[in-house]
Amino acid sequence: MVLPSPGENCQHIRSVRYIVLPVIEISRQQIETMKFVRFIMQNAALASAPKHIDHFSKFSPSPLSMKQFLDFGSINACEKTSFVFLRQELPVRLSNIMKEINLLPDQLLTTPSVQTVQGWYIQSLMDILEFLDTNPDDHRTLGNFADALVMIRNRHNNVVPTMAQGVLEYKETFSQDPVTNQNIQYFLDRFYMSRISIRMLINQHSLVFDGDTNPVHPNTIGCIDPHCTVAEVVQDAYQSAKMLCERYYLISPDLFLQEVNSNKKNQSVHMEYVPSHLYHMLFELFKNAMRATIEHNEGKTSLPPINVMVSLGGEDMSIKVCDRGGGVPFRKIDKLFSYMYSTAPSPQLDDHARTPLAGFGYGLPISRLYAKYFQGDLQLYSMEGHGTDAVIYLKALSEDSVERLPVYNKTALRNYKVSQEADDWCVPSTEPLDMLKYKKAK
Ligand SMILES: Nc1ncnc2c1ncn2[C@@H]1O[C@H](COP(=O)(O)OP(=O)(O)OP(=O)(O)O)[C@@H](O)[C@H]1O
Ligand SMILES: [Mg+2]
Repeated sequence: MVLPSPGENCQHIRSVRYIVLPVIEISRQQIETMKFVRFIMQNAALASAPKHIDHFSKFSPSPLSMKQFLDFGSINACEKTSFVFLRQELPVRLSNIMKEINLLPDQLLTTPSVQTVQGWYIQSLMDILEFLDTNPDDHRTLGNFADALVMIRNRHNNVVPTMAQGVLEYKETFSQDPVTNQNIQYFLDRFYMSRISIRMLINQHSLVFDGDTNPVHPNTIGCIDPHCTVAEVVQDAYQSAKMLCERYYLISPDLFLQEVNSNKKNQSVHMEYVPSHLYHMLFELFKNAMRATIEHNEGKTSLPPINVMVSLGGEDMSIKVCDRGGGVPFRKIDKLFSYMYSTAPSPQLDDHARTPLAGFGYGLPISRLYAKYFQGDLQLYSMEGHGTDAVIYLKALSEDSVERLPVYNKTALRNYKVSQEADDWCVPSTEPLDMLKYKKAK
């Protein structure tokens, strides 16, 4: 190949510029016009969003079982069927929860953060509705839908910290009352659960139909591992928390892991589950256990280990994470699952200096949602002065693991309208009792 000399090259570029410039001018005008038309259309589409939300929120979401996720992904994997299901189901799930966003107290709803989140939801709903009248037999439709799902998933990546920021802004600006706190707690539990479920649907579709197998876990079906080795996930989560812990405190407690498999003696515990969900819960529990262990045993020469017990029964697969980190008073246990409570200093979205082991105070409540998502639970049993046992309960059988989804209906609406009523148990007076008054009355 003959390379042009530098001079020729420049001339070539100059002449190309000379010829191309007017074309760019014309297309720029066209682009501006197109942008304007798109802006008008988008605004018109966004203006119609409330009508669509009203329509789709009248349908109840359809919960899927782990077995259905697995069967669908392995035997009957059909992208067209999945597309037809999702273009109806995703708008239903989005609209059900968007109805509830509107029920938040005005002071929270109008914070810039919550407005941003609401905008994302509206945009994503409109993006999916564009596929309602498209032809499922056209493979370009399926490709465009897969791209749209990836875009939606990315758009919603920061929903949790952005919403948390809104709650922080609200907490710092307005005085709190128990009824509003209860409403926010009720809403966020349902909102984040809905988000977990929507991401699960999107991930399954994207992973099952992208044509690639997972190089590390080739047997996974989407994000579900039909043969998830629980102890491996425990080890992974422990190692990650340990790394974080050592970076901050320079030390970390050891792990002592035991397993009981009542179904197959002496075999490690396996189950059909989403390893990333299990990892999330365990990572949060390990971070909490490590922080408590180190802070409670400050100045001591050695740290007590974190003991983990994994147990598989006929119905439950349970994991207990025990620490000797001094525990929490019984009175506070419920508060630990509150989105309005953390003992760590409030972080900002761009705060890089905060302690890596504690943040928004969302570790426990979100982990409990992951456990509840497939009909499990997460509970804390603490002995103040000694330590805490955190137990994750999951369903051992895949047919029992069915999605737990919020639905917008009259009962949900009523829960937002609870008013503060007098307690039906006596409230002790804080004033000392004047016994003389009673003597006189006699
Ligand atoms: N094992 C434990 N021992 C003692 N206290 C605990 C334990 N687990 C949780 N806590 C208390 O519960 C609070 C809430 O825990 P949670 O994990 O929800 O939030 P966080 O750790 O403060 O922040 P992050 O969002 O990073 O997890 C903690 O701040 C801590 O005071
Ligand atoms: Mg935590």
